[in-house]
Amino acid sequence: MNSEAAGLGKIWQPLQIGVTTVKNRIMIASHGQAYGEDHQPSERMIAYFQERALGGASLLGVEATSATRSLGGAQPGGAASRWRLTAWEPRTIPAFARLAEAVHDHDARLFVQLSTGGVNDMGRAWTDDWHPVRGPSRVPSPIMNETPAPLEAEDIKELTCDYAKSAENLRRAGVDGVEIHAAHGYLAMQFLSPAFNKRTDGYGGSVKNRCRFSIEVGDAIRNRVGDALTLGMRLSFDEYIGAAGVTPDLAEECLEVFADSGLFDYFSISCGSWYSLHRTIPPMGTEPEAFLAPYGKRAKRVVGSRAKIFLAGRILSLEAAERVLTEGAADMAAMVRAHIAEPHLVAKTLAGRSGEIVRCAGTNECLAAPAKGRQVTCALNPAAGRERAWGEGTLRLATDVKRVTVVGGGPAGMRVAALAARRGHEVELIERSGRLGGHLDLLRRLPTRGDWQVAIGNLGAALEAAGVEPRLGEEATVETLLASGPDAVVCATGSSWDCTGFSAGRPDRERMPGADEGHVLDVDTAARAALEDPASLGDKVIILDDTGGYLPLGLAEMLGQAGAGVEVLSRFATIGDQAAATGDLAWMLPRLTATGVRLSPNHFIESVDGRRVEVYETLGGRTRLVDDVSTVVLSMLRSPVDGLFHDLRKNGRFEVHRIGDAVAPRSAAEAIYEGERLGRAL
Ligand SMILES: Cc1cc2nc3c(=O)[nH]c(=O)nc-3n(C[C@H](O)[C@H](O)[C@H](O)COP(=O)(O)O)c2cc1C
Repeated sequence: MNSEAAGLGKIWQPLQIGVTTVKNRIMIASHGQAYGEDHQPSERMIAYFQERALGGASLLGVEATSATRSLGGAQPGGAASRWRLTAWEPRTIPAFARLAEAVHDHDARLFVQLSTGGVNDMGRAWTDDWHPVRGPSRVPSPIMNETPAPLEAEDIKELTCDYAKSAENLRRAGVDGVEIHAAHGYLAMQFLSPAFNKRTDGYGGSVKNRCRFSIEVGDAIRNRVGDALTLGMRLSFDEYIGAAGVTPDLAEECLEVFADSGLFDYFSISCGSWYSLHRTIPPMGTEPEAFLAPYGKRAKRVVGSRAKIFLAGRILSLEAAERVLTEGAADMAAMVRAHIAEPHLVAKTLAGRSGEIVRCAGTNECLAAPAKGRQVTCALNPAAGRERAWGEGTLRLATDVKRVTVVGGGPAGMRVAALAARRGHEVELIERSGRLGGHLDLLRRLPTRGDWQVAIGNLGAALEAAGVEPRLGEEATVETLLASGPDAVVCATGSSWDCTGFSAGRPDRERMPGADEGHVLDVDTAARAALEDPASLGDKVIILDDTGGYLPLGLAEMLGQAGAGVEVLSRFATIGDQAAATGDLAWMLPRLTATGVRLSPNHFIESVDGRRVEVYETLGGRTRLVDDVSTVVLSMLRSPVDGLFHDLRKNGRFEVHRIGDAVAPRSAAEAIYEGERLGRAL
């Protein structure tokens, strides 16, 4: 073992959890990928898990899996989800068996999380099975907002039987353990939470009664499978809605009841519910690393030697995991997003290759994906979810070694250059500005966005490892390229922000009247000016956002902090739709409010006339005039910077490619994806 790995002593100690022994203390807690097909683990999912088992984590958790025939088919934020796994149907056993085998092949263990949605179900998810959603009481989900019918005794009996049947199915599939999902607002947590459980029968009121549902489920599972499976429970230690919901004190009392029952081998400590999902999976710039450690310590004090404690929550490095373990906050450190970004976190550390670890930056692309109806991907690790094509061992040396010039040092250019060089091509990377990172280099300078530097750092480390030395501050032109004569040129030249005011929401006009006035700026120019001197935009700023992205809101925050009056307008019903999907918006809104920023959804600009701006409501058409506006910022379309590409193509002397924003301006995740794809194809 190298000295770095040897310094992480506790992590390498095996652990006995019920009937399961794990080889180290690093696990990947349950997390959904939306990779399931026809409700069973798919080949994509098996490859995803296999990669992470190979990468050295000792225990892998399968996502919230429907344990019951009803109440489990849907997912807040998602459509009726065909990808949602089910364990209650025996037909899914063979696919779970393949998954378990793939994980066992690499000496890791597999636990499956058993869940049912309760009030977070969707009553009309399945055309042939409309039903009222069911919950402890008549309180709807804050997200789904369907009025539930309270569960009756016979319903509860059916649910507990289904849980037991699911556990039995998974035992037959060769899975090592099952976990009752009593966290994050699923049904078992709804019984614990005063926010949802208003019952006056044996399932409501006292702490013991609130715990009864989960205890009955645990009992039913133990009666069915005995000690053949490890049995655990996931709990949210804080629902973050004060005494209205689960508080840390209530969580401790519940934990005492659960530990006392003797049913459970472990408790996995997390936080949040559908009231506070942004806290369960906090994005960059919010919670510190291992932020749930104080709750882990409390849980360990309550449970003592009666069960093991797992802990998640922005444990991003093995050093942080080691601290969590040695400080007595957990017996197992759960690192979820860290492993989405880097499946080989443990193996690389053990091999003395920690410099190659792709670090999670907390962009929460993984969280946003299912919320937007997509499968989970990672902004920084384009191989996540694509392991069959891009996983470990798939990169092939180039048979026809070329001299490749990459123009543009943003995420697309950095990625393609590193990949092509690793494959043996001779690569040079030319960047016009003095810095690498492109658009990310601006984002990282916004308030709370510093961790974008982690993303730039990952891309830079890959370049360095591949031996590419970027040439900064150099402009590539047709002439310079003709002179140097590479075999192939990749144009990763990015995009520029339009300042015409054109919007798909106003198809009747090409330009916004007044958009050419000097105090109307595109958002990139405005953000750079504000970073230099926030006062330079004046004391009254209107930002019109058509993107739903973070940049205009980050600018608003910066200006608000500096004391300017700021109003953000958008023609959409939610301002910052993209930032909502990553969980950022819920953190940012209080900060914007604190600085006095005004948000006006369903609004647009009719015209700018000097310091007077005419604004209208997109739904009703009512107009208002805003006077004394010092700057109007337009966060609208971007145009590809593709002149070099077209000139080179016309010239016909080289193999020419273009990727990323230079094709069509999109996200960093897409830019990095295209860099990876071309890097493998060159
Ligand atoms: C894409 C995604 C899906 C998740 N799905 C689940 C789930 O199905 N069940 C669960 O208990 N937690 C789920 N989580 C929460 C994680 O298990 C974990 O608690 C959270 O990501 C914080 O840990 P981290 O900072 O190491 O990522 C999910 C997290 C992510 C990012």
